[in-house]
Amino acid sequence: MSSAAPSTPRLFGFIAGSDGPWRIEHVQAVVGEPIPTAPRMRVVADPLAQLPANASWSLRGITSNERYVEREEKTKLADKQQGLGRVESTRAALIPIRKNTAWWALTQDERRRVFEAQSQHIAIGLKYLPAVARRLHHCRDLGPSEPFDFITWFEYAPADSAAFDELVLALRASPEWQYVDREVDIRLALDPA
Ligand code: HEM
Repeated sequence: MSSAAPSTPRLFGFIAGSDGPWRIEHVQAVVGEPIPTAPRMRVVADPLAQLPANASWSLRGITSNERYVEREEKTKLADKQQGLGRVESTRAALIPIRKNTAWWALTQDERRRVFEAQSQHIAIGLKYLPAVARRLHHCRDLGPSEPFDFITWFEYAPADSAAFDELVLALRASPEWQYVDREVDIRLALDPA
């Protein structure tokens, strides 16, 4: 095979331990088994590189094609959303999520119905753009022993922290979340430069 064209990274690692730019402010096991707390965390684009010996925990996930978004929604999202790494986004949330076997036994059309027709995940999420920037990572197909199905990552300004709390509460109250059997909510902050 010819050499692959340069591409943007898709596989990301989240490594917690004694160092890293993000300070871990709060860890809440929303449902299911908790994960240990640690002082700091880094996001790396090459998680297969050797883990630091002092890592408290590490999670990994890969970006993928969209499963549920329809054309009109995709356009609305693209018009409103902004990318990660904005200077004012000094707060972040790392929320790993696992869904139960009942979810994975549904067909694609049934899952879409729960996700949007019943839960309005996208309609709710759109209200928080562009304040919240996000990246969704999938874990399920990385191997048989991944602890979560999804790793979600969000960045926002300190002034939007309350809005972000409101967003997660709205999603957790939706029918989609009845299928979530493990969720940990990790909040982080960048120290002032
Ligand atoms: C900032 C507002 C948000 C927007 C605009 C948004 C938008 C979306 C969209 C468009 C998808 C579907 C991607 C696809 O078609 O495959 C999605 C999936 C997902 N989102 Fe959100 N979201 C937001 C906030 C959140 C939050 C706060 C959480 C966690 C608490 C979350 C967790 C997830 C998960 C786990 C999935 C994957 C669902 C699955 O494939 O079963 N989202 N989101």
